[in-house]
Amino acid sequence: MKIGICSDHAGFEYKGRLIQYLESKGYEMKDFGTHSEASMDYPDVAHPLAEAVGNGEVDLGIAMCGTGNGMAMTLNKHQNIRAGLAWNKEIGELVKKHNNANILVMPARFIPFDEVAEITDSWLDTEFEGGRHQKRIDKIPVRQA
Ligand code: RB5
Repeated sequence: MKIGICSDHAGFEYKGRLIQYLESKGYEMKDFGTHSEASMDYPDVAHPLAEAVGNGEVDLGIAMCGTGNGMAMTLNKHQNIRAGLAWNKEIGELVKKHNNANILVMPARFIPFDEVAEITDSWLDTEFEGGRHQKRIDKIPVRQA
């Protein structure tokens, strides 16, 4: 399983720690940046991550910024991306079980790192339930007028 990951400056420290954590569990990680704590614009890393998940270069993605909202807004502009914001492990589970999120987004400035790891584990370890949730997901794409 290959996982792409990105953050802005607000999530930079957690991104490094999460890469180490997931590599130690056997996941192959691809880091889309940012590569320092210098202030930067989250769309500059979110769009490349969304493209890599969309074209299959990586299997899943993880993104972090201060609140998670800028990342989620940007990632969800891509038609085949379902980026879900999670701030506790129950939501980490549900965002896979019900929404089949292919990118997990977390608010780095609002949760401690051990919860970031816990949320990531519950998202990775949960299977999409399908059924009625598949029908709902099928209705997400924007319709042409
Ligand atoms: C950066 O200050 C902050 O705006 C960003 O990390 C994020 O929270 C945006 O949604």
